[in-house]
Amino acid sequence: VLKQLYADASVKPAVVQNRFYATTAYDAALREWCAEHGIVYQSFWTLTANPHILSSQTLRALAESYNKTVAQVFFRYLTQIGIAPLTGTCSEQHMREDLDIFDFALTPDELTKTGRLLV
Ligand SMILES: NC(=O)c1ccc[n+]([C@@H]2O[C@H](COP(=O)([O-])OP(=O)(O)OC[C@H]3O[C@@H](n4cnc5c(N)ncnc54)[C@H](OP(=O)(O)O)[C@@H]3O)[C@@H](O)[C@H]2O)c1
Repeated sequence: VLKQLYADASVKPAVVQNRFYATTAYDAALREWCAEHGIVYQSFWTLTANPHILSSQTLRALAESYNKTVAQVFFRYLTQIGIAPLTGTCSEQHMREDLDIFDFALTPDELTKTGRLLV
């Protein structure tokens, strides 16, 4: 459907927002196609659909080493691999944390390790 829309539309889609979870293999193929076509992939259910990632030892250790929360490390990972993470919160503290992910960067090794959790 998206490919047909892209082919037919005179104004091309700029953003694709989709559930980001294991059921769809984290949209790996779709994300690749979006990147090739200059379309931003935006994740939703970013936190709620991925408790196994947020509770992983990998993210916990990274969070500790960067003095960040696991949610911050996950959001940082997503932005570094080209995903625009969508979340929502009723908490001012969480909102501040969710925005405070641009003062550190995961190394290539850390990106690879975190990427292995997307299964
Ligand atoms: N357009 C669409 O089709 C579509 C589809 C789905 C969702 N949405 C919208 O997208 C937004 C995101 O929803 P979502 O369910 O996809 O988001 P999500 O990231 O899966 O989950 C949001 C939940 O994570 C918690 N949270 C946020 N920041 C956190 C942090 N730093 N640490 C710990 N917990 C944190 C929030 O709880 P607290 O309030 O306790 O922080 C909230 O309950 C919502 O506004 C939703 O309405 C749109």
